[in-house]
Amino acid sequence: MLVTSALPYANGPIHLGHMLEHIQSDIFVRYQRAIGNQVYYVCADDCHGTPIMIKANNMGITPEELITKVGVDHKADFDGFLISYDNYYRTHSPENQEFSTEIYKKLRDQGYISTRTISQLFDPEKNMFLPDRFVKGTCPRCGAKDQYGDNCEVCSATYDPTDLKDAYSTISGAKPVLKESVHYFFDLPKFNDFLQDYVKNSGAINKSMANKLDEWFSQGLKEWDISRDAPYFGFQIPDADNKYFYVWLDAPIGYMASFKNYCDKAGVNFDEFFKADSTKELYHFIGKDILYFHSLFWPATLKGANLRLPSGIFVHGYVTVNGTKMSKSKGTFIQASTYLKHLKPECLRYYFASKLTQDTVDIDLSLEDFQAKINSDIVGKIVNLASRCAGFITKRFDGKLAQSPYDNELMSKLGSIKEAVNAGYESRNYADALRAIMSLADEANRYIDREAPWVIAKEEGQEDKLQRVCTDGLNAFKAIITYLSPVLPEIYHKAQEFLNDPLAFNDAATPLLGHTINKFSPMFTRIDPKNIEAMIEDSKQDLAAAAAPAKDEKAPAAQNPDHGAKGNAQASDGNGEYEPLESEITIDDFAKIDLRVATIIKAEQVEGAKKLLRLELDLGFEQRQVFAGIKSAYKDPVSLIGKQVIVVANLKARQMKFGLSQGMVMAAGPGGEDIFLLSPDAGAKNGDRVH
Ligand code: 2FM
Ligand code: ZN
Repeated sequence: MLVTSALPYANGPIHLGHMLEHIQSDIFVRYQRAIGNQVYYVCADDCHGTPIMIKANNMGITPEELITKVGVDHKADFDGFLISYDNYYRTHSPENQEFSTEIYKKLRDQGYISTRTISQLFDPEKNMFLPDRFVKGTCPRCGAKDQYGDNCEVCSATYDPTDLKDAYSTISGAKPVLKESVHYFFDLPKFNDFLQDYVKNSGAINKSMANKLDEWFSQGLKEWDISRDAPYFGFQIPDADNKYFYVWLDAPIGYMASFKNYCDKAGVNFDEFFKADSTKELYHFIGKDILYFHSLFWPATLKGANLRLPSGIFVHGYVTVNGTKMSKSKGTFIQASTYLKHLKPECLRYYFASKLTQDTVDIDLSLEDFQAKINSDIVGKIVNLASRCAGFITKRFDGKLAQSPYDNELMSKLGSIKEAVNAGYESRNYADALRAIMSLADEANRYIDREAPWVIAKEEGQEDKLQRVCTDGLNAFKAIITYLSPVLPEIYHKAQEFLNDPLAFNDAATPLLGHTINKFSPMFTRIDPKNIEAMIEDSKQDLAAAAAPAKDEKAPAAQNPDHGAKGNAQASDGNGEYEPLESEITIDDFAKIDLRVATIIKAEQVEGAKKLLRLELDLGFEQRQVFAGIKSAYKDPVSLIGKQVIVVANLKARQMKFGLSQGMVMAAGPGGEDIFLLSPDAGAKNGDRVH
């Protein structure tokens, strides 16, 4: 089988959100290898598109230089987390150019590609068309300023960038103009019946994701715009003048290209894997934000090019930290390299595994729970089990295990969990596998507590019992660490040395008897809370250095209903840049804005509103109702009652879906959890004007 993880963009660091997926797929791969299947496991950097081009330009280097540098960092991060790729490549490669071109030509020759002229916003200073995410302006619905070109983060409206008021290019600040250009479209609607059948009946996509896709089918599939105009960092479309493939056309083809690059080095037959009637299996691990690309565009592209289809598309949720979206300012937007400076990779591997199921749900990294679980499970129950028994075997029996077990009941448990462990790994319900394994660890520890070898060791004539009880404990440890080998490969490796045995997965339950082991040396240390604190502090330092995510490279809102709502949910809460200053105003302009001090006398949730809280304000001379888009930052509205705020008091009242909003409370910050209400110093009275 061939297994892939989604290809990370080559314009920013790997963070713990990425790591969930690479850990999830690595555990699957290691398990499959352990039970004797032949697995190829590949990934690559996703190198093309506008954000990468702009970033390189801002850094004063070429995109090629940028992707080379980022590629090295990404590979080091994945190695650091023990991700066992057979090949980690890049989409900007000769193999990918060849495949993308070939596939495009097949689609074109079969009539799946058409062209038409479209009008798009264009930056007249930079001489380039602007992806939606590089246009900002005032929301046409709620009037919020500085909203992206495709959706408003304040009122959640989705729209076309041409609908924005006072639009500006975020690259140059210039006012965009509309310009026409010929674009190339892939006829996705022609694949409607095929895709519906594939999604429902092939078994590649689970029920809940198939239901999600149903929403898109019922809205009707749209033609897919696969071309971009120069300047663009990507592959040129053959026979077209200065047109490039949209990054999402060549990105999944990058899976094939990475594998081809590997096959050429390793002498594996690539065609056997990708021919239309291939009997090999192909599994993609992805996040929920890119479901549309992988279960619609990608299978349609493969089908149109007469290639095989994915056997499984496994979709995970996002990572949250301490219950909320990863936040740079809180230090919970943690880069892989920052994590690795302070903590062992296996801690995160184990923690994620203990929470992963086959369901597409978000996984919370609760740092307190993380520390407690690692210290209790890996150190307290697994490594300690070995250390409690090993010393007696080494000192009293010259490293030799007993010829027969003492407790047959415990020994039978080694094998009785096997089915649950295998089923858990196989179905990607790692949480179930780990639960079964830890039930064995609990039982083994209770057994050692009960038999107390340290007491037996002091009794005369109990040598045989001592040796057999300790042998039992070590055989339980052997089974536990062997079952956990897909999750904890480094500790497993140390256990192989210690137990002086290859620890074959399929023989996990077979006890070692009459066998000589090596001296035990510590395999793992506890997590000290100081390490976690230092990681959080370091992550705050990373704030300025981290790159903005490649937000523009998702499907346009009209094609991907998920976009906007969740599309950047795994992204950070800011990009470390400052918003451009507004154009200059006079003191008279400022005087037109009547700002007043007010006290929040009531604050409550608004049913059906994602972002809004309903506030009642006392302005001294009157009371008013305001709907404020601050819910994401003030989760407990009651805590706001009694707080003094500043209100734009002469703002035209606005009829919203939920009621009339009479003014606006002032707040600073980029949005999301980072919204900070402004308050006057103590002494200000309600109704006081702010000058
Ligand atoms: O969303 C992303 O991060 C994309 N770079 C994933 C690409 S996966 C594959 F299709 F290449
Ligand atoms: Zn809005």
